[in-house]
Amino acid sequence: MARLLGDRELESSSVVANRDMNRERGLAGYGRELGVDVAGVVRPGARWLDLCCGSGAALVECARVVPGVSITGVDLVDFYAGPAVGGVEFVTASVGEWEPDGAFDLITCVHGLHYVGDKLGLLTRVASWLTGGGLFVANFDWRTVHTGHGRLTGVLREAGFVYDARRRRISLTGRRDVSLPLRYLGADDRAGPNYTGQPGVDSHYVRV
Ligand SMILES: C[S@@+](CC[C@H](N)C(=O)[O-])C[C@H]1O[C@@H](n2cnc3c(N)ncnc32)[C@H](O)[C@@H]1O
Repeated sequence: MARLLGDRELESSSVVANRDMNRERGLAGYGRELGVDVAGVVRPGARWLDLCCGSGAALVECARVVPGVSITGVDLVDFYAGPAVGGVEFVTASVGEWEPDGAFDLITCVHGLHYVGDKLGLLTRVASWLTGGGLFVANFDWRTVHTGHGRLTGVLREAGFVYDARRRRISLTGRRDVSLPLRYLGADDRAGPNYTGQPGVDSHYVRV
């Protein structure tokens, strides 16, 4: 069994603090990575939450293109694109602990789950943060989640998630109360480079 880290150790690990990761994607980059035209999906008055938002460049761009949209970006590091734009709020916090004050029409996580310890715990919480018709979409590679019991995709499908193995994307439409039969054990920051070429974090679980 790999040496497993808790959240505090993980968040100060050199893998999570890696300066070479791309934190500055704009809306076009978000569209390519998620397969979703964010500015086309969010309407004035809608709420968009971006987890692991990096510099938040895409959020600032979206606020300029879609006035009246309300956007929240959460990241461990306060390295945000400035100057601040109306409708955009940046929160410096770990997505493992942060809790929102309401529901969102769109929730995204662009190449952020690769660095999160309890990936399934976050997916479970995110499912409850959507509006009834809200959309969640994120880059995700199921092979970075170890359960000791083979493929995870069936468990996620049963919970309502859609997994695109070729594009390594996970999505969910509409709020759900999700309970997965897995208990989180800890994270391995020595997993090595993932499909993005950057070192990532593997997450370990046991069936319950
Ligand atoms: C590859 S960058 C992607 C940034 C942005 N989504 C983009 O595409 O430009 C991953 C981001 O995840 C953030 N991150 C990693 N672990 C996190 C955690 N537990 N909570 C919040 N942010 C986290 C990092 O600080 C980094 O900004």
